[in-house]
Parts: sequence; structure tokens; C-alpha cells
Amino acid sequence: MKKSFIAAGIITMGIVAIGCGGGDDTRNNAYMPDMAYSRAYETYTMSAEKIAELQKQGIFYNTMPVEGTIARGEMEPYYISNDTTGYAQSSSVQDPLPEMDETYYKEAERLYLVNCAVCHGSKLDGNGPLWKGGDGPYPAAPRNLLDDYSKGLSDGTMYHVITYGKGLMGSYAHQVNPKQRWMLVKYMRSIQSGSKPAATDSTAAAATGNGTVTSDSAAMAAPATN
Ligand code: HEC
Repeated sequence: MKKSFIAAGIITMGIVAIGCGGGDDTRNNAYMPDMAYSRAYETYTMSAEKIAELQKQGIFYNTMPVEGTIARGEMEPYYISNDTTGYAQSSSVQDPLPEMDETYYKEAERLYLVNCAVCHGSKLDGNGPLWKGGDGPYPAAPRNLLDDYSKGLSDGTMYHVITYGKGLMGSYAHQVNPKQRWMLVKYMRSIQSGSKPAATDSTAAAATGNGTVTSDSAAMAAPATN
């Protein structure tokens, strides 16, 4: 019995030694080499040796885009700061998007119902399920987006507040991208002006899922910035 334990131990150690030894990890020995060594062209990956080699030829290429580069179709970054000065400055920021067609309007409505209605209410009256006239769990009254104060806010300030939040309202910058924020501004404007009806309970119930409009859709791509 004891001997067979010793034998098993020696065999196991042997296997471990073989498994770790060798070090001959050349490409041809790899199991499924395409998985171990990606052949994919990776834009921002270049080995230090390759960079040094290029530098010897006088080519200074660090594989990263120049700072401040804006990807094609992407909107210009929002430079206004998150403080009282920035809040005041935001009033002069213009909505860069063209009018929304019906498809975009529906998507804007969905974004509103998913992200904002829980506080501001599907009717924009500031009475969403988290507030419920003060009976809900939320400690601060969400703004009634149909009152004169809200109607008097500029498009840019609405965008600013969605981007950074205000008071007890948090930032929605991670939930909605710049284009979607402007769509939300347009949506609030349409309901405020009465040109569109507020969502009904059935639209609110259907406002889940991933939506129909992709953010890079050409139909309402960000306008050229130059
Ligand atoms: C968790 C609750 C909550 C959610 C969700 C929420 N808000 Fe608010 N919102 C508030 C509160 C509270 C205020 C009042 C803040 C203040 O004036 O201190 C407010 C204020 C506002 C204002 C007025 C800003 C101003 O300058 O006075 C706008 C516009 C607004 N929200 C839009 C939105 C939009 C659009 C969304 C969805 C992306 C949203 N909110 C999501 C709670 C919320």
C-alpha cells in the first residue's frame, strides 16, 4: 500500500516536471495557435521593438490618435464645466440636431420613459412613481417639466442638467449619450409646446427593450463640426 503511494507520488511529480519543463513555447508547438497568438489587426497595439525600429527610420508613431480627435460621426465634446459659471454659460449652447422624424421621436419618448419618468412622471408633471406627490421614497420634488420655469429653461441648460445633474438629480451622462440627450431636450420641448401628447400608460409600459434607433444611424447623424 505504502509503496503504491510512493510510486503514485513519483509519477505525479514526473508529470508536473514534464509539464513545466522545456520552455520550448514556439508558435508551432502551441495548441490552437490562432487563439494564443491573435492574428487580428489591432490598431493601437504595436510592440516596443517595432516602435523603436520605426523611430530609427525617423518615423514617430505612437499608435494613438492626436488628443482632441473626434471620431467620424461623433459629436463635439461638451466643454462647459460643472459649476455655477458653467450652468449660466449653458444657456447659450445651441441644440445641434435637426428636427426629429417620427422614428426618432418614438425613441426619444422611450429614452424619457426609461430614464426620467420615474421621477418627472410620464406626463412630465414632476409626479413620477418615486415622488407620488410626496408619498414616494424620493426625498426631493422632481421639477415639474411643464411649469413656466421649465419652459423658460434654454435647450442648452436642459442638456447641461442631463449631463451633470442638478441638486438631488444625478448625472445621466452614462445612461444617455450626447445625441440622446439632445433628443430628450427635443422631446421635453414637444410636450411643453403641446405639439405632441405626453405618453399614455400603455406607451410607458412598452418603454423597455433596446429601442429601434441606433445611435450611429445616418438619418440623424451629428452635423459636421467644421
Ligand atoms: C431620481 C429622480 C430624477 C430623475 C430620474 C431625473 N430627474 Fe430631473 N430632476 C430631479 C430633481 C430632484 C430636480 C430638481 C433639482 C434642483 O433644482 O435642485 C430635477 C430637475 C430637472 C430639470 C430642471 C433643471 C434646472 O435647471 O432647474 C430638468 C430639465 C430635468 N430634471 C430633466 C431630467 C431628464 C431629462 C431626466 C432623464 C434623463 C431626469 N431629469 C431624470 C430628479 C430627477
